[in-house]
Order: sequence, then structure tokens, then C-alpha cells
Amino acid sequence: MRKKVTVVGAGHVGATLAQRIAETDLADVALVDVAEGVPQGKALDLMESGPILGYDSLLIGSNGYEDTANSDMIIITAGLARKPGMSRDDLLAANGDIVKKVAEETGKRSPKAVMIVVTNPMDVMTFVAMKATGFPRERVIGMGGVLDSARFRTFIAMELGVSVENTHAFVLGGHGDSMVPLSRYSTVAGIPITELMKKETIDKLVDRTRNGGAEIVALLKTGSAYYAPSAATLEMVVAVLLDKKKILPCSVYLKGEYGVNDVFAGVPVKLGSQGMEQVVEVKLNVDEKTAFMKSVDAVRSGCAKFM
Ligand SMILES: NC(=O)c1ccc[n+]([C@@H]2O[C@H](COP(=O)([O-])OP(=O)(O)OC[C@H]3O[C@@H](n4cnc5c(N)ncnc54)[C@H](O)[C@@H]3O)[C@@H](O)[C@H]2O)c1
Repeated sequence: MRKKVTVVGAGHVGATLAQRIAETDLADVALVDVAEGVPQGKALDLMESGPILGYDSLLIGSNGYEDTANSDMIIITAGLARKPGMSRDDLLAANGDIVKKVAEETGKRSPKAVMIVVTNPMDVMTFVAMKATGFPRERVIGMGGVLDSARFRTFIAMELGVSVENTHAFVLGGHGDSMVPLSRYSTVAGIPITELMKKETIDKLVDRTRNGGAEIVALLKTGSAYYAPSAATLEMVVAVLLDKKKILPCSVYLKGEYGVNDVFAGVPVKLGSQGMEQVVEVKLNVDEKTAFMKSVDAVRSGCAKFM
């Protein structure tokens, strides 16, 4: 049996993700959007790429949820994206309503699925989705840290003139302006970047990572990033579909880990077929802990609006 992934939101992130999933040939894709004709048109266009690129993934686009039934994974990208000058939190109320409905509709048709939430403000939206579906915390995960880490890795590689493949980076906390890029745990070929760059240089890269989303919004003017966000989501999708047990920074509902309870925050987790299979705890120094807690508090106050 082929695997099936539902992607809700056939906009920039959703459609590019559908393309990336099809190109791996690992699953069929049900693409859903409220815009009439858009998911149908994009799904057909992607199907017609199959013979050229050599994939057999079936893609079906629709404005309803019937075709999403029995999906192995559900990815929520539906909602509004940022415009210049908007923070992720400006999207809170509108996207909260959308994500609640989408999570309910998809969750009841695929009760065993692993759900990944991309819609911003992502950590809060993941909480909304978990509440709306009643899914256990292991199966409702937010995408943010993989993207933030990829941005940090890109900037490290650019600065040192090394392959991105040599770089590893960890970004903790909420996917927002208060995210915590951890330079001590970020390495190039196993060497901590703190041994390879001056503190001022690292601070500059950390700052650019924190503003990585806004930098692209400012350039595009009409929307936000989607190539790297869809690539980051694909990495999580593949980890689950192939039961890879990959350690990736994701937003998960913490129950005591890192001394935090009952709130979503970005931490390293083991991703496999069951979804989040383990929270990996790393030691934080006082400054890192303070920054992490500040970031967690920002997510908590966003979630309070949906209690
Ligand atoms: N977590 C992250 O790291 C990250 C990265 C990039 C984008 N995002 C977020 O992802 C979301 C999507 O971004 P985008 O660039 O694809 O935006 P987009 O505007 O291109 O696409 C969003 C799509 O959602 C659809 N939609 C709206 N309401 C819907 C509903 N009720 N049901 C189904 N579909 C609905 C729209 O018609 C549109 O096609 C935004 O909230 C954005 O901020 C998050």
C-alpha cells in the first residue's frame, strides 16, 4: 500500500511541499484548499510532471475533505502568510479559526495520522490543532526549528566558506522573534562554531537567523518564504514515513522536559513512524535557559487566547 499525505493549503508552502513529496515518490498526496480550482489545477499539473521526473505519486486536489480519509500524515499550511511589517503573531486570530477547522476536518477522517503544523504563529497553531483533534502530543508536531536551523547552517557555511553538509545547528524555543539559536551546540565537521568564529561574528549570524523569515518577507513584499519551509517540512515527513528516528528540532507539547509544562516549544526530538518518539534534553547554561524560558512565555501567552 502506498502511503498517503494530506496537505491542506495549496499556496506557496503547501503546493511546493506537495511537489517535493511527489518527487520523493514516497507517498500519494491529497491537496486541499478553499480556493476553487487551485488545488485541483496544481495537483493535475504535478501529476503531469510524473512521467518526466519519474514518479508515480497520485495527487488529488479538492476543496473538501473526503479525499483526505485514511492519510498517514496531515500537514497544515492553510492560512494567511505575513506581509511586510507584520509579525507572526499578527496572524493569530485569523489563522486560529482556520487551523481549528482544518484540524477537526482532517483529524476525524484520519484518526491515526501524524500531523505537522506549519501555519503561523506556528507554536500556538500547533496547540490549536492538538486541542481540535484530541490527538496525543506524540502526533501533533510543529515545523519551525528545522527551518531556523537550516537558516543558521546556511549563514555558518557562507561565513566559513564550507559545505552546508558539514554544518549542524540547533535552534531552540518558539519559532518567533525570541527563538534561541544555540551556538555551543552548533558545529562544523564536529567542531563547535565557538572555536571557529569570533563571538561578534556568531552574534551577527544568530541575529540574521532570528530575522531570517522577515529578511525574505521584506525582499518578496507579497508573501513569505516557501522553498526552505517546504524543504524543512519534507525532512520531517520523510523521517516519519520511513521511520528514520531522526533527531530534529520540532515544536512539541512539553510535559516536564526542560522544566516546562503544558506548552509547545521547539526542542530536539526523535521523529519516527509514531511521530515524536522522544524529547532529547540537552544541558542549557544560565543564559540559554533564560532565553529559552522567555521564548516559552511568549508562546504560552499566545496559547492563552485559545484555552
Ligand atoms: N512554520 C514555519 O516555519 C513557516 C514557514 C513559512 C510559512 N509559514 C506559514 O505557513 C502559512 C502558509 O504560507 P504560504 O506562503 O503558503 O501562504 P499562501 O497564502 O501562499 O497559502 C495559504 C493557502 O491557504 C489557503 N487557505 C486559507 N484558508 C483556508 C482554509 N480554511 N482551508 C484550506 N485552505 C485555506 C489559501 O487559499 C492559500 O492558498 C502561513 O501562515 C505562513 O506564515 C510557516
